[in-house]
Amino acid sequence: MSHDLQKIKNEALAELAKLSTMHELDAFVVNYFGRSGGKLNTVLRSLKDLGDQERRSLGSEANAVKVEIWKQIDVKRNELKNAGKKQFVDLTAATERPRLGHLHPLTLARREMEEIFKGLGFAVMEGPDIESDYYTFEALNIPVEHPARDMWDTFHIKGFENAAENRKMVLKPHTSPMQVKVMEKHEPPFAVIVPGRVFRHEATDARHEHTFDQLEGFLVDENVTLANLKWILNEFFKQLFGEKIEIKLRPSYFPFTEPSIEVAVSCIFCSKKGCSVCHTGWLEMLGAGMIHQKVFEFAGYPKDKYSGFAFGIGISRIAMLKYDIPDIRMLYQNDQRLLNQF
Ligand code: PHE
Repeated sequence: MSHDLQKIKNEALAELAKLSTMHELDAFVVNYFGRSGGKLNTVLRSLKDLGDQERRSLGSEANAVKVEIWKQIDVKRNELKNAGKKQFVDLTAATERPRLGHLHPLTLARREMEEIFKGLGFAVMEGPDIESDYYTFEALNIPVEHPARDMWDTFHIKGFENAAENRKMVLKPHTSPMQVKVMEKHEPPFAVIVPGRVFRHEATDARHEHTFDQLEGFLVDENVTLANLKWILNEFFKQLFGEKIEIKLRPSYFPFTEPSIEVAVSCIFCSKKGCSVCHTGWLEMLGAGMIHQKVFEFAGYPKDKYSGFAFGIGISRIAMLKYDIPDIRMLYQNDQRLLNQF
């Protein structure tokens, strides 16, 4: 008898746990406690045929089983009753703060640079990442096989050619391809900046990354001089880093500018004293120059009519300097420990 009671209890509780509707629960109650044929009721009723002693001990055991099952029935009933109801939400309860998205340091640097140039009258344009060899090199006065191509360790895209125009395609290693593309579509005067991602087949270290960001700028009109270029860059760096910044021009070489210059700014950390970042007191910032007449020729402009300047600034480099980021690779790893600081 005792064994039967325990068996019924185990079965009942297991069954109960599986119920999922009120209807099933009602049927369960009938099945166990129904007057005629209810499993537990039948046992309880048979108690009266036992001897005194046995009846007493089994009686209390049977009662305990009955109470236990009814308790679980109540729990189940509540559970089923609440299942369909909406949960009460305490709007005043303290919770974790929602985490807001925010702009990447590269985006912040790019936007700040764009704002400054827009204020100086430049329009913002964008070019594709996959660019033709023609606009990347040839139209910039760097013919096929010209040794100057080694200045850009370019990723060439296999099997990706514009067959119609017989143009090989590359991942653009600089933002300069937009120069001739814009010139083909627009008559001077114009002033344009082109922020963009560039790719180079380079070994990476703290100062080099195979992917980085550049901002190209060029202005074309009649009678543009190097003095105009110097004024624009001087103004740009003063707005970016503060009034005290000085710039220095040095001769350089690019096939698409003549003359070509390199521009350094007085170190923003040590003001020309020399520190662990600049070593010399000056920070190398960009390449620039007066647009080569050959480039205007490729654009289809009349000979010697226009003049203009062009420059290419590293956005990544500016972001590193502005936000004190010691390793360029950090800008491209999406490490939350860095990003959360912005
Ligand atoms: N495109 C050059 C580079 O990436 C920079 C540059 C741009 C130089 C425009 C002169 C004029 O190295």
